[in-house]
Amino acid sequence: MKPLAPVDRASLVATRRDIHQHPELGFEETRTANLITDRLRGLNYHVTPGIGKTGVVGLKTNAGRCVLLRADMDALPVQEANAVPYRSQQAGKMHACGHDGHVAIGLEVARRLAPLDLGGSVKFAFQPAEEVSDGAQAMISDGVLEQPKVDAAFGIHLWNDLPVGTIGVMAGPVMASVDQFEIEILGRGGHAAAPHQTIDPVLVAAHVITALQSLVSRRRDPLSEAVVSVTEVHAGQAFNVIPDRAQLRGTVRTFGGSFFDDAPQLVKETAQGVAAAFGAQATVQYRRLSAPLINNEKLSALMRDVAADLIGAENVRQGVRTMGGEDMAFFLASVPGCFAFVGSAPKGGRASPHHSPTFDIDEESLVIGAELLSRVAVAYLRDDGR
Ligand code: NI
Repeated sequence: MKPLAPVDRASLVATRRDIHQHPELGFEETRTANLITDRLRGLNYHVTPGIGKTGVVGLKTNAGRCVLLRADMDALPVQEANAVPYRSQQAGKMHACGHDGHVAIGLEVARRLAPLDLGGSVKFAFQPAEEVSDGAQAMISDGVLEQPKVDAAFGIHLWNDLPVGTIGVMAGPVMASVDQFEIEILGRGGHAAAPHQTIDPVLVAAHVITALQSLVSRRRDPLSEAVVSVTEVHAGQAFNVIPDRAQLRGTVRTFGGSFFDDAPQLVKETAQGVAAAFGAQATVQYRRLSAPLINNEKLSALMRDVAADLIGAENVRQGVRTMGGEDMAFFLASVPGCFAFVGSAPKGGRASPHHSPTFDIDEESLVIGAELLSRVAVAYLRDDGR
């Protein structure tokens, strides 16, 4: 096989900065999708736009197995506070999670793989709407894993919790399930000075919030990870009126296991039980947004070997996990694969957190990400033993 062409750093950075200046929210990524479509067609990929609404699939077929490489494309409703020349030109929208870099990396990998005889098919999934957890499912429903059938999937996230020059990769669950709950507490309103004539939903809500915290401390196996956060509280409109209802919203995060299975029932029972003790009623809506992201053991070992080869084994980090969610989980629930974290914080410097208005990356991480994904695709298609 011909060797991989060197990474074109200038083009990679230019593409990332172009997309950074033109951020688009989930399922609105039309400019980004058009740019991807044009570039992939120029490289002679078979391109199908409109997979999962604004998603784009690029395919290069060959006999043998099929590997899918996934890059998410969407931005966030954040106002950029960086004063860089390539800052967002859209008010209130920003690539504050690094997905601009993921697109640039995907296109660079496509450019490098295009002229090679890979011994198998490679399929690029440029995915919309990761931030709202809907894009991966939309692409899967539209058949991205079929024709040809995908045998393995790989992806990366640029990661500001790690310095550039390091990669986090490990088998098992590395990103958490994302569940959302909404609790409505129905009491009986009345005068603030006559609480005995009311059923105060504000007080009930306070007890429900406190009781929900005991799920993690008392209903979960302490050796398994979980978070329960109540993040919204809405009730009342006047200081001297006890309202008749209160609303709570929040999220449960896990790496799977029995607490993941039990959480919907536990949240419901807790809210309803506490409410009942006060003579109120609670209704609970519980929605699963995404499952935990679980890396396949063999393919994580493959990606770790590729990473070690690229940056040295001492720079490959074990144990990098987060309770944040990622809808790549849906791909990895359908086919085996691995999702790695590519360090993007400046060496020795401070990096702003993901989703913050001052988020930015060390662009050397783009080169490392492009190398990692290119090489892992080549290695997977070459290595029939795995
Ligand atoms: Ni992200």
